Amino acid sequence: MKDKLEKLERRITEDIAKSTTADDLEKLRIGYIGRKGELTAVLKNIKEVSPDERPYVGRKANELKSLIEAKIKEGPAQPKGACKKKTLDVTLPGSHYETGALHPITGTINEICRIFRGLGYRIAEGPEIETEYHNFTALNIPEDHPSREDFHTFFLDLPAERTKKTGRPGRMLLRSQTSTVQIRAMEAIKPPLQIIAPGKVFRPDATDASHSFMFHQVEGLIVDKGIRFSDLKGTLDLFCKKMFGADTKTRFRPHFFPFTEPSAEVDVSCMMCKGAGCRVCGRKGWLEILGAGMVNPKVFEAVGYDPDEWTGFAFGMGVERIAMLKWGITDIRVFFDNDVRFLGQFA
Ligand code: DAH
Repeated sequence: MKDKLEKLERRITEDIAKSTTADDLEKLRIGYIGRKGELTAVLKNIKEVSPDERPYVGRKANELKSLIEAKIKEGPAQPKGACKKKTLDVTLPGSHYETGALHPITGTINEICRIFRGLGYRIAEGPEIETEYHNFTALNIPEDHPSREDFHTFFLDLPAERTKKTGRPGRMLLRSQTSTVQIRAMEAIKPPLQIIAPGKVFRPDATDASHSFMFHQVEGLIVDKGIRFSDLKGTLDLFCKKMFGADTKTRFRPHFFPFTEPSAEVDVSCMMCKGAGCRVCGRKGWLEILGAGMVNPKVFEAVGYDPDEWTGFAFGMGVERIAMLKWGITDIRVFFDNDVRFLGQFA
């Protein structure tokens, strides 16, 4: 019996080695472990084996049966040429991970705020839904000023109780400038103060390459004893040099804003042509980037600051405009299209 089993073992081992197709495996199963299979027969007749050989035969027959079952479980061999095991193919392209990045407008706001924080300014915020009082009246903007017309400001149709709750009679609106935060900050804090206020503003302008109904501004305000126009000039000149490069020149042109007196518009030397005159600066060599001035005493009166005791300056700038000049972008709409081919360039 032992001999017979050894021969059977040899045959089984050979057959296992030769079996590659599903057909081979099925033959293997039927021939050895099927109902009429040779191993099945050995196990069925185990009782007839002499008692001293029985344990060996039983063990061996079961071993061979497991071997066949394992081979069948493995399944037919892969077609020629296919990889049986997972191997590393270094010529395949690697897995690609997208890296996130700040939106260029957020990046520009952060950069502006970083510069002013270095000068001791603190970040302040105000609501985007504002009262007519904070957006106009407290800023000394007269009732008949054109910016108060419907077609220059988004007025909101809010229920009267909501408007009354603000404690300020008048309409509610989407703020058209961050100058509102000057008022909010002075209402909340006693002087001296030094704040920088970034945020969204809204104007019902038709959209084109340089206009958007929503854009961003950064407002600044400092109030202390003895603040002078020369402080304003020094601060904004330093800011422009840090923002656009150390060789940037600044120019202050007289202007009018109701909330500052005197007021100025600030130009920087064109960073494209270094002041020589080009397409970006309209051959002027200068680019207007912000409005500024000494806080009008009327504004101090509106918030309860004593204008005889305190002086200060304020400024406001458009973030999209600054970002466009910095990177030579010619259409404001690209900031809001959400096209990763554009946004990915700032990663
Ligand atoms: N609020 C002005 C605007 O939207 C910008 C501005 C000008 C802000 C002069 C100021 C300032 O604080 O002093 O056009």
